[in-house]
Amino acid sequence: MPQSADKLTFLRAWLANPLRVGSAIPSSEKLASMITSEINPRIGPVIELGPGTGVFTEALMARGVRQEDLLLVELGDEFADVLALRYPDATILRTDAARLSMSSLSRRRYHGAAISGLPLLAMPPSKVLRILSGAFRLLEPKASFYQFTYGWRCPVPEAVLRRLDLKAEKIGTELRNFPPASVFRIGRRTI
Ligand SMILES: C[S@@+](CC[C@H](N)C(=O)[O-])C[C@H]1O[C@@H](n2cnc3c(N)ncnc32)[C@H](O)[C@@H]1O
Repeated sequence: MPQSADKLTFLRAWLANPLRVGSAIPSSEKLASMITSEINPRIGPVIELGPGTGVFTEALMARGVRQEDLLLVELGDEFADVLALRYPDATILRTDAARLSMSSLSRRRYHGAAISGLPLLAMPPSKVLRILSGAFRLLEPKASFYQFTYGWRCPVPEAVLRRLDLKAEKIGTELRNFPPASVFRIGRRTI
């Protein structure tokens, strides 16, 4: 269970900025387990977009990803402060994920996967395009981008997938999350 302090941080952040935070509570450990289910210790550096209080970060480390191999991209200072204390060896970018391609720090190496908790449904397609294109620039050719959504369909518009030559596949739906959520794997159509 997320600590009660994390729940409070979430609730406060959501009340102040519901569109950015997207949920009044952190994701469940069950959803964290599903979204990281294809991650293994050999995958190398991993990008996490919108980690919040770190539910998925914990699951990534439980799957064998080293803290120093984590690039955490978080726009909210209230969350970035928690992450900096909790994961001192991870690289934390306090920035908008749509600006990822502009960061010299993140250009250092290729990453084996990206995990995203970003509220994509609340963003315009042009921003979703920038986020996906920036993330895929940092990913190895065969690497996947994992995204959860409270909707039934992939939250990345079809036009964005086509423009970036990507394909999306649902890997599961977790009912033991509030609200229930589905996870999509997004990868390059042609490698
Ligand atoms: C629904 S919460 C998910 C948090 C966590 N991954 C979880 O599942 O509990 C969305 C997170 O994305 C962050 N976020 C929203 N828009 C962002 C953006 N453009 N760039 C980086 N982080 C963003 C929010 O601050 C928040 O931490």
